[in-house]
Amino acid sequence: MMNASNTDNMSDVVSNQATLELKEVSRVFGDEWEREEIIKDFSLTVRPGELTVIVGPSGCGKSTLVNLIAGFDKPDSGEVLLNGEKITSPSNDRMVVFQETALIPWQTTLENVVFGPKLRGKRSTSEIEAEANNLLDKVGLSEFKEKYPIQLSGGMQRRAELARAMINHPLVMIMDEPFRGLDAMSRELMQEFFVRLFEENRRTNLFVTSEIEEAIFLADRLVVLSNRPTSVRQVIDIELPRPRDFHMLSSREAYEYKKQAMEILHEEAMKSFNRADGGYQPAAE
Ligand SMILES: Nc1ncnc2c1ncn2[C@@H]1O[C@H](COP(=O)(O)OP(=O)(O)OP(=O)(O)O)[C@@H](O)[C@H]1O
Ligand SMILES: [Mg+2]
Repeated sequence: MMNASNTDNMSDVVSNQATLELKEVSRVFGDEWEREEIIKDFSLTVRPGELTVIVGPSGCGKSTLVNLIAGFDKPDSGEVLLNGEKITSPSNDRMVVFQETALIPWQTTLENVVFGPKLRGKRSTSEIEAEANNLLDKVGLSEFKEKYPIQLSGGMQRRAELARAMINHPLVMIMDEPFRGLDAMSRELMQEFFVRLFEENRRTNLFVTSEIEEAIFLADRLVVLSNRPTSVRQVIDIELPRPRDFHMLSSREAYEYKKQAMEILHEEAMKSFNRADGGYQPAAE
């Protein structure tokens, strides 16, 4: 039998952990001679309760992958499965936080956070508001609940979005470069808020980034992508202890992980550079 205090400590941990699988997924865009396979034979299991981070260069197809997982788009071949069931449309089971803000401008921070669950009406208003207040405290926005998005800094807007996604208790959180474009200090702060939230509830999480240090700081598993057509080049288990803190990034292990990932990304970049160079033809006059 589980001891009572143990159960209490675990109260925030999501009990029903989800597995997300991509099986030989391919996605092609464009017609006829403009056809380009962006994603090819992409297979990956995002394990339950883990933070899996995908790192790949700009334009390689990361958001395309996110759209397939979110159910906004369908693969041309292969399947995306959540707990063994095929994903065919968007759902609150899979919450996505994008790099652009999606807060509703005429609602306050608190109103934005409670909007989704209130609309569905499955929980009482007081319960929803209590959870929203709790989440906003956790992301450091307790003073800004009554402010409108335009009155928040970029970093605060992203934090509000984190709270807005998490209040839906998704089975999987999907983050598509949510901290891109923030200044270095705000970005670091965001990473810290985010990693604490993850460590508290251990919800299955897929995080997409093009920043290696961010990836290593956050990840249980780091997935390094190949160049287009994009597939999984390597999966690196990041065995830094939790709770994470930034000092760990100066450890020997972190340095080795970074080196390993950088070498692969460099190789991939060279491949595409050579291809582009080899195929270059001056335009005819
Ligand atoms: N709906 C679409 N129709 C045609 N081409 C598309 C479509 N969506 C994406 N693409 C193309 O697929 C490629 C990958 O785009 P995607 O946005 O997935 O890359 P990304 O890795 O997320 O890039 P970034 O780092 O800039 O966010 C791009 O060349 C893009 O032009
Ligand atoms: Mg993108």
